[in-house]
Amino acid sequence: MKALIASAYGPVEQLRIHEVPDPSPGPGQVLVRVQAAALNPLDVKLVTGELREMFPVTHPFVPGVDATGVVAAVGQGVTRFAAGDEVIAYAGTASGTLAEYVLVDAGPQLIHRPRALSPAQAAALPMAAMTAHCVLAAAALEPGDRALVIGATGGVGALVVQQAAELGARVLATAAPADTAYIRALGAHESIDHTAVDTLATARRLHPGGLDVVIDLINAGPALAATAGLVRPGGRLVSTLYGPEEVDGVTPVYVRMEASTGALPRQAERVAAGRMSIEVAATYPFEKSPQAMCDLAEGRHTRGKIVIIF
Ligand SMILES: NC(=O)c1ccc[n+]([C@@H]2O[C@H](COP(=O)([O-])OP(=O)(O)OC[C@H]3O[C@@H](n4cnc5c(N)ncnc54)[C@H](OP(=O)(O)O)[C@@H]3O)[C@@H](O)[C@H]2O)c1
Repeated sequence: MKALIASAYGPVEQLRIHEVPDPSPGPGQVLVRVQAAALNPLDVKLVTGELREMFPVTHPFVPGVDATGVVAAVGQGVTRFAAGDEVIAYAGTASGTLAEYVLVDAGPQLIHRPRALSPAQAAALPMAAMTAHCVLAAAALEPGDRALVIGATGGVGALVVQQAAELGARVLATAAPADTAYIRALGAHESIDHTAVDTLATARRLHPGGLDVVIDLINAGPALAATAGLVRPGGRLVSTLYGPEEVDGVTPVYVRMEASTGALPRQAERVAAGRMSIEVAATYPFEKSPQAMCDLAEGRHTRGKIVIIF
């Protein structure tokens, strides 16, 4: 099969499509013929080695954790899936989804694809949706809570904004001018143009008494300490990155995506039923996946997800 390959830790410019041996499913595994795969910032960090202490990978490494496709074969003991089933998969890091075939454990990270979802929408879901679920669980929003979402227009942020608004929170979200109408349509009540003004100073001016919840999907380390200053006494700071254990009486909650929560089917059904939208900003054919990874790494403006079509 063809797969996108990193031969060592290093810049994403090294990525090339190569022919590699076809995988075959072991016990409890499902072999999926990939129809579409979505990119995540994690993919870039795994290729460069930025996360090598936390998430070491073996080389040659195939990036990609999200996919949708058709079951090609099942391993011993798998009864929930059969050849021909259309599925959505979070594959983890052992077998990358930027390949014609991927191996996935038949656990909560592998679900049947609702008919109403297009392959691009389905591929875009797993990591963003499961992370958004974990973020919202940590945020424990109550109706009327004032919540700031930093990084609101990305894959995770857009799903967080929609569900936070549905929970009755008053959402303040970062959005570049081209995304202001978009983020409002998702349910944000106010927005801050992070490309033109200082997000923290503006949020402080808009909410001088502090916010009940700040969800920061962008800042890490000392920058996250600055974000903590926006949280009212007794409020909550939730981050998908890393930073200090405690800042000025605020104990940040650092979220790590968990597939075991069983959130993926519920989130997929919400999109299928039209109760939540998932934005696919750009699609690239698989042959252009090296370019897609470079565009993602460059931080070129995107709204929602980048999806590779096979
Ligand atoms: N801990 C975990 O388990 C976990 C899981 C998933 C993701 N993550 C991490 O969470 C972060 C967000 O993930 P994602 O998938 O949502 O990323 P993404 O899709 O790349 O979205 C990032 C968004 O942030 C916006 N942005 C960039 N700089 C900004 C700034 N200074 N202020 C406000 N907005 C800014 C970008 O919009 P513009 O183009 O308009 O700037 C983009 O829409 C990533 O760092 C990712 O690695 C962690």
